Amino acid sequence: MAFSDQFLEELEEKNPIEDVVGSYVNLTRRGSNLFGLCPFHNEKTPSFSVAPEKGIYYCFGCHKGGGAVNFIMEIEGLDYPDAVRFLAKRAGIEVPEEDRKQTSSYRHKEKLWQLCRDAARYYHAMLKSPEGKDGLQYLLGRGLTPDTIVRFGLGFAPNRWDGLLKAMEEKGYSRQEMKEAGLVRSSMRQKKNPDGSVTEYESCYDWFRNRVMFPIIDVRGNVIGFGGRVMDGSEPKYLNSPESQIFNKRKNLFALNMAKKTKMEMLVLTEGYMDTISMHQYGFDCAVASLGTSLTQEQAGMLAKYTKQMVLCYDGDQAGQNAAKRAISILEKTGVSVRVLRMQGAKDPDEYLKKYGADRFRQLLGASEDQAVYQIGTIRQKYDLATDEGKVGFLQEAAGFISGMSSAVEREVYSGRVAEMAGVTAEAVKLEVNKAYKRRRYAQKKKEERKNLRPADQAAADGIKYENVRSATAEEGLLSQILLEPSLLEETGGLRPEDLSVELFGRALRWMRQRWQEGQSITVSAMNGEFQPEEIAHISRVARKNEGTVNEQAFRDYISVIRSEASKRGSKDLMAALNRRRDKQGYGG
Ligand code: UTP
Ligand code: MN
Repeated sequence: MAFSDQFLEELEEKNPIEDVVGSYVNLTRRGSNLFGLCPFHNEKTPSFSVAPEKGIYYCFGCHKGGGAVNFIMEIEGLDYPDAVRFLAKRAGIEVPEEDRKQTSSYRHKEKLWQLCRDAARYYHAMLKSPEGKDGLQYLLGRGLTPDTIVRFGLGFAPNRWDGLLKAMEEKGYSRQEMKEAGLVRSSMRQKKNPDGSVTEYESCYDWFRNRVMFPIIDVRGNVIGFGGRVMDGSEPKYLNSPESQIFNKRKNLFALNMAKKTKMEMLVLTEGYMDTISMHQYGFDCAVASLGTSLTQEQAGMLAKYTKQMVLCYDGDQAGQNAAKRAISILEKTGVSVRVLRMQGAKDPDEYLKKYGADRFRQLLGASEDQAVYQIGTIRQKYDLATDEGKVGFLQEAAGFISGMSSAVEREVYSGRVAEMAGVTAEAVKLEVNKAYKRRRYAQKKKEERKNLRPADQAAADGIKYENVRSATAEEGLLSQILLEPSLLEETGGLRPEDLSVELFGRALRWMRQRWQEGQSITVSAMNGEFQPEEIAHISRVARKNEGTVNEQAFRDYISVIRSEASKRGSKDLMAALNRRRDKQGYGG
C-alpha cells in the first residue's frame, strides 16, 4: 500500500476507534466492548459493536466491519487514501511527503481502466479481423445483429497465448499492469543454461483465448473486466476476469451502465450476459445481469438507486427458482417492489425472445406477478388441493410464508387469498398465520442465542463459504489468536497456507507471515488494499472470537485439527488434481 506502516500505526494510535465511531454513533459500554445502533442499516436494538483493544468495529446485523479507516470509508463514502487523509486531518498529523505522491490508488485504477478499455478495443478489432471469423459467426449465429455487437462492444480473443499481451505491450502497458487487470497470467518456468545451470523466469500468457468476449462496464462507464464464452461445448462455458482492484463482481451488474438510462419504469434482472443482450436487442433496454453469482446486497442497493420496480427474470428451472427466492429477500430489504416473471416454453429470456418475439415477451412482463403472489403460487404447486392432506400442507406452508410479512395489511390480504385458493374460511388461515408467527419468533430467538456458535452460517452471511466446518472453526481460532499475539506465527511452522480449508484464511496466513518476516505490524486495518472489504469485515468478526486472551493449548489444538483435516483432504485432492484440466481453474472465476 502506498502509506508507510509507521505512518498508519501513528494514524491508528491518534484515532482510537471508539472516538472515531463515537462521533457518529452513541456508544454504551458492555464489558470490554461498546455497543450502539448501527449507522449502516436501520435497527431498533443495537447490534453494532466496537472493540477498542482490537481497534475494530463489527455489526452483527449487516456484517459490516473493519478498522477506523474502513469506518470512515463507509460512513463518509471515501476511498481508502481519502479516508486516510480524513483521519490524518482529524488527528492533526501530516500525511508524509513521499506518501502523498504515491497515494494515488485512484490514478493507478485509472491506468487499469484505460488498459481494459484498450483491451476491449483490441478484442473488438479482432472480431472484425480474419482471425475473428469464428467469433463473429458464432455471435451472428446466436441472432445478434451487427448493431448490437457494436453497442455492447463485443469482441474476440484469438486462439493465441500472447495476442493481447503483445498488442498491449506495444501500447506501452507493462506486464505487471496486465496481470493486475486480470488480463494475463504468469507462471514460473525453468531454462537450462549452456553451462548446465538453471535459470528461473516468469512466463506470461493471455488469460482469455479463443473466446467471444463480453466487456463488463461499471455505471461510470469504465471497462472493468470481461466475460469470455467458448464457442463449442467445452468447459468452463464462461470464463470471467478475476477480482481485481477495479473489478468487484459483488458490486457490479452487467449492462447497468445502459439500463440505468431506460425509459421503462422497471429494471429486469436476468441470469446471464446473453439474456441481457438479447433483451436489449428486442427493445427491453432495462435488462441487467448479476455476474455469475447470486444477487448480492451491494448489487441490490445499486438497483434500488435507479428503480422502484424490479422484475426477476431467471431461468425456469429449480436453480433459477431458488435464485429468485434469494434475490427477492435481498431486494425487498432495499424497499423496492419485486415482481417475478414466469416463463413457459423456453428456458431463458434469450430463447423465449427468439421463439416468441418481443410482443409476447412484453405481455409476459406485464403479467409478471407480485413476488408474494409468485411465492404463494410456488408453494401452491407443491400440493394437491383436492386432498385434505394437500390442503393442510399448503395452508401450513403458506401461513408460514405470510407470517414473515412485515405489514399487517399484507398479512390480512394474502391470508384472504390463500383461504380462497384452499376453499377454507379466512379465520382459519389467520389462526394458522398467528401460530406460524409465534413459531417464527421462537426460532428467531433461538437463532440469536446460537449466533456465536454457528461459524458456517455467519461466514455465509459475510459471503464466505465454509466447506469444512471443523477445520474452518479451528482456522478462525488460529487467526484470531495471531491477530491478538502475532508472535504465535513462530509456532505455525509446520502449517502450510494451503492446509487451511478456507481460501481467504490461507491467504491471510500467508500475508501475516510475510508481514511478520518483514517486521511489520499485523492488524486488521493493515489488510486494506490487500483484501476485499467483505473479506476484511469477515476477518474482523473472526478476530472478535477470543475474549482478549492468548490460549496456547487451544492454539496448538487448532493447528492439529487443521493439519488432520488437510491430510484427509489431501488424498482426495491428489486424485482430483490428476484429472483436472488446466483451464478448469477458471470456472466461474
Ligand atoms: P448459463 O449457463 O445459464 O448461461 O449461465 P447463459 O447465460 O444461458 O449463456 P448461453 O446462452 O449459454 O451463452 C448464466 C450466467 O452464469 C455465468 C455467466 O455470467 C452466465 O451468463 N456463468 C455461467 C459463468 O460465469 N461461468 C460459467 O461457466 C457458466
Ligand atoms: Mn442462454
